[in-house]
Amino acid sequence: MSTHSRWAALRRHLQVPLVLAPMAGGVGTPALAAAVSEAGGLGSLGAAYLTPPQIREALAAVRARTDQPFAVNLFAPQPLPPVTAQAIAAACAELAPFHAALHLPPPTLPPQVQEDFGAQLHAVLADPPAVFSFAFGRLPPGALNALHAAGVLVIGTATSLPEAQLLAQDGVDAVTVQGGAAGGHRGGWQEDALAGTLTLTRQVTQATRLPVIAAGGLMTAGDVQAALDAGATLAACGTAFLLADEAGTPDPYRRALQSGERQTVLTRAYSGRTARGLRTTLTGGVHSPLPFPWQNALTRSLRAAGAQAGHADLLSLWAGEGYRQARAGSAAQIMADLTP
Ligand SMILES: Cc1cc2nc3c(=O)[nH]c(=O)nc-3n(C[C@H](O)[C@H](O)[C@H](O)COP(=O)(O)O)c2cc1C
Repeated sequence: MSTHSRWAALRRHLQVPLVLAPMAGGVGTPALAAAVSEAGGLGSLGAAYLTPPQIREALAAVRARTDQPFAVNLFAPQPLPPVTAQAIAAACAELAPFHAALHLPPPTLPPQVQEDFGAQLHAVLADPPAVFSFAFGRLPPGALNALHAAGVLVIGTATSLPEAQLLAQDGVDAVTVQGGAAGGHRGGWQEDALAGTLTLTRQVTQATRLPVIAAGGLMTAGDVQAALDAGATLAACGTAFLLADEAGTPDPYRRALQSGERQTVLTRAYSGRTARGLRTTLTGGVHSPLPFPWQNALTRSLRAAGAQAGHADLLSLWAGEGYRQARAGSAAQIMADLTP
């Protein structure tokens, strides 16, 4: 069967035109991915920060809960950007007062700042899911071929039409178009591309032959219908699931979402890469972050200590512009509310 017909078969199989947007970093648990797939959508496991053994464990945990199709998401590999000792010292100096306030030792870089993509992909291919999705760039051709050879459908992420066209040229089977309202990291590679979700959906469906999954700010059944009307084949929701019972969202993060008091901002403070989240003292207090993934590694111990101490202001509170419409409840209830 061609990948085109396999995509069509997957689309027909899904009873609900919804994708659980991949959410790495603890929010998107195997239980959440499985619950969305069980409810007739496509669950996604955000595995970008997991080690290969953790990926194998997470895949098994999804499979233990569902035999429905689901997706695994990784970050496309990038060469590690060079950083100077001076830049490291400046970034450490900015974080030092936050460490001191929690009685943590001063910030230092861990020996390993990112996971090895080749080893992560190997773990995914050892137990291939129906779908693999990726963000932050283009896949090396060998990776795309290996996924296709294993019968896996591949979804790239674009934040602009030129990115979608390059992904189409590379041979992906579908593209997630991420509008500027989306929570979490900008999923393409032009970090200043912030088009509206519906505009981008229309542009990409008209200019490419790829099936389009619309993402960004889709918080109600009406939003999902609008994305489908704009030409999307599926709608992806992340922020709408942040308060799901099955999500791994820590309590201080849930409380900050539910209070609705904070604005969302685009920030590089936590990871060095532009992401949308709730404003915190850290988003206001970091002005010279290292580039991704260095800053992500540098802030890891602070975020972990902040979570333990229940300090929302030290956590990366990724959330989309529509976060005040997120509702608590089971993933199945949230899916029902989002179904047009
Ligand atoms: C907590 C969180 C973590 C995210 N992690 C990832 C990720 O690992 N990979 C990815 O491609 N997108 C990630 N995203 C972006 C989502 O996949 C998706 O594009 C976004 O949630 C859609 O917009 P919405 O939040 O308004 O629904 C993340 C988003 C959030 C809120």
